[in-house]
Amino acid sequence: MGKFQVISHPLIQHKLSILRRTDTSTKDFRELVDEIAMLMGYEVSRDLPLEDVEIQTPVAKTVQKQLAGKKLAIVPILRAGIGMVDGLLSLVPAAKVGHIGMYRDEETLEPVEYLVKLPEDIDQRQIFLVDPMLATGGSAILAVDSLKKRGAANIKFVCLVAAPEGVKKLQEAHPDIDIYTAALDEKLNEHGYIVPGLGDAGDRLFGTK
Ligand code: PRP
Ligand code: URA
Repeated sequence: MGKFQVISHPLIQHKLSILRRTDTSTKDFRELVDEIAMLMGYEVSRDLPLEDVEIQTPVAKTVQKQLAGKKLAIVPILRAGIGMVDGLLSLVPAAKVGHIGMYRDEETLEPVEYLVKLPEDIDQRQIFLVDPMLATGGSAILAVDSLKKRGAANIKFVCLVAAPEGVKKLQEAHPDIDIYTAALDEKLNEHGYIVPGLGDAGDRLFGTK
């Protein structure tokens, strides 16, 4: 079974509380998602493999460490996942970025995929699949299906708020992936929204409602 980790650093908890508030503006919401993603990135990238590299300092030749071989791809699930990309890129600027477009049908709550655009060598990359919300789990499961169909093998799913129902479904469907969240909330409501959650992440990020 992959790792499941709630990254509950005090800075993350503080920022997440502001993010959840109804009266937080679109501008602040966007900045907070960016900052929280960056803070989570520190922990999510903890086990990236290193290799030796010989370098010359002004004083001597020395063998030190650098990130090894297989490189990273950050893959946001559109729309809301886009808000987490820059924060992670600020830590690993050389990462490639793929996109998976998906929306939840409001009646059935089933995800509908409308775009997949990934780096060609996605099968050789460590992937950070990002979406602020893990609710029923449908979108994350379909996104991982889509990545695996294209050869991806090394996937970490990173979200900000998760419902227990979604975590369970994602773990059952894809037991090999690691899941990181900033908060594990109480439950889903009858409309498939996370309680207490933060509302519709895409709408709040882009100001569409
Ligand atoms: C939201 C969110 C996730 C999905 C989670 O996207 O960003 O992708 O719902 O729900 P699930 O776990 O039940 O699948 P939404 O469908 O609202 O699309 P949007 O980001 O384009 O607004
Ligand atoms: N998608 C969201 O944006 N918010 C929720 O609470 C559930 C799904």
